[in-house]
Amino acid sequence: MDLELSHTQALVRQTARTFAQERVQPGARERDREERFPADLLREMAGLGLMGVNVPAAYGGAEAGAVSYALAMMETASACASTAVAMAVTNMCAELICAFGTEEQKRAYVPRLVSGEAVAGAFALSEPQSGSDAAGLTTSAVRRGNGWVLNGAKQWITSGAYAGVMVVWARSGGPGSQGLSAFLVEGGTPGLQVGPPEDKLGLRASNTVPLVFEDCALPASALLGREGEGFRLAMVALDGGRIGIASQACGVARAALEATLRYVRDRRAFGKHLGEFQAVRFMLANIKTELSAAEALTLRAAWLKEQQRPFTQEASMAKLFASEMSNRACDKAVQLHGGYGYIDEFPVERYLRDARVQTIYEGTSEIQRVVIAREVLRAAS
Ligand code: CAA
Repeated sequence: MDLELSHTQALVRQTARTFAQERVQPGARERDREERFPADLLREMAGLGLMGVNVPAAYGGAEAGAVSYALAMMETASACASTAVAMAVTNMCAELICAFGTEEQKRAYVPRLVSGEAVAGAFALSEPQSGSDAAGLTTSAVRRGNGWVLNGAKQWITSGAYAGVMVVWARSGGPGSQGLSAFLVEGGTPGLQVGPPEDKLGLRASNTVPLVFEDCALPASALLGREGEGFRLAMVALDGGRIGIASQACGVARAALEATLRYVRDRRAFGKHLGEFQAVRFMLANIKTELSAAEALTLRAAWLKEQQRPFTQEASMAKLFASEMSNRACDKAVQLHGGYGYIDEFPVERYLRDARVQTIYEGTSEIQRVVIAREVLRAAS
């Protein structure tokens, strides 16, 4: 693995960094307070190629690779984790359609996702009674005439109220993972109702809603991949998605470290700057070391993906380590800010709230350990 960034990777990172610092970061606190979805920013990001960094140019993407995507995600998340998760899910949908869609589906949906026309993509897998146990979902897909009819409920759907294009999983066959199929559903399709946004601890500028499908009729062309192949599609998408969340975690942790470095150089106590106390310096050293380790794991998983080599285990290791690291880093950042860490005049309380979901969505830490252990044992047998 080449540890130097290529020209393209450096360029994508710089583009994302400049945009994040100049356009995303300044309004992040207000969007969080007002729970305001960053639709305009997402469209601007699409204009810069940031909504399809790892999507083929033939379908409107930047075709800059998975490492560039991870770098762009880190930069975006360091400014606003809510904006970053909308970017992550849109990218995940676009990549999934590119990997499994027919030529017609790719041409119909991917350019709309990456150009910003669809605002965002949504990934509708989780249900009220099935989060970690994705194979247990019960939304049904029944053949009617030439097409399909969906009935059921989805829960915690990121960008669900804004998404022009969604990938929706439903049971078209028997029980378990082999009975699932994936469908492409457009926002506003009759029979699809969007519920009220969740009132969340963090990522408050991200939109998270329940969806209800009531006799939602879809054409035959809505089926993504083959009938019964849906679970595999979900797992493949989540392998890549987990690199996105690991990158998001690294970005948030880096922002927390940078804010803390500013604070400890400025704040004085007992006649010294906080940064002169060894206890403080050791905390900073731990955060930086763990952050660097998480970045390395994340970029390695992205590199394997880019090389089209197996990366399931590496994506889960990156997601597990980076999300837990991010929570530790943000917690320490709040601690080092003292009382100022607990009020929203300083950004670290938002970072801590935003980091919390990283060990939960796109597979909890416990699910990542299930995946890692399965892969390690398989390799040893
Ligand atoms: N790639 C390809 N195929 C895979 C795969 C992968 N990474 N992982 C599993 N499969 C295949 C298996 O080979 C198996 O195939 P066969 O039936 O042909 O043998 C099939 O899928 C079933 O595999 P398992 O028996 O391992 O399935 P399981 O029911 O035990 O579940 C799990 C495994 C890892 C726990 C999985 O259910 C899982 O990842 N759960 C977490 C779901 C999740 O991450 N949800 C997040 C919601 S999305 C979200 O958060 C997005 C957002 O908005 C931010």
